[in-house]
Amino acid sequence: MEIRVRDPHRLTETSQMERAGEVSCACGAHGTDAGRLDRRTFLIRGSLAAVGVVLVACSAGGGPMAPRSVSLIVSLATYPALANIGGVAYVDANGSPLAIVRTSASTFVTLSRICPHQGGTVNAITTGFLCPNHHAQFDDQGRWVGGQPTGNLTTYPTTYDATSQSLTIG
Ligand code: FES
Repeated sequence: MEIRVRDPHRLTETSQMERAGEVSCACGAHGTDAGRLDRRTFLIRGSLAAVGVVLVACSAGGGPMAPRSVSLIVSLATYPALANIGGVAYVDANGSPLAIVRTSASTFVTLSRICPHQGGTVNAITTGFLCPNHHAQFDDQGRWVGGQPTGNLTTYPTTYDATSQSLTIG
């Protein structure tokens, strides 16, 4: 499956003149006109079945951006770290890095590991997540808590099925 996502942050004078396509932007700073201006695309290819990336979110610095939505099913058996509350597993969603956090016996949080500041890839630390680029810090639910000022990490709806021991994300 191949999905094309247009990036409203990578506009050039040329691309503005060559209007090619339309995109929605999650930040609200790039209205329909800005989205329509973009002609650059990037392709997201993946190894997971049934994964979809629908819209992009914003990265203020022009780096990689978190998908605005994803769609995938994850078997807990594949990620032993999720057997324990507080466990964190890294998951690849069509090339976009995600983290799943087990927050209780029956609840999980899925978030993008792409930092909303300039697109660094955040890593799990004992208190949540840390971006190695400029040290933005996030709690285990993806909320910005310190360091480089920026927004929260993008999160995705996550449903736990105790019978199948799987998560439906998106
Ligand atoms: S990219 Fe700057 S803090 Fe993450």
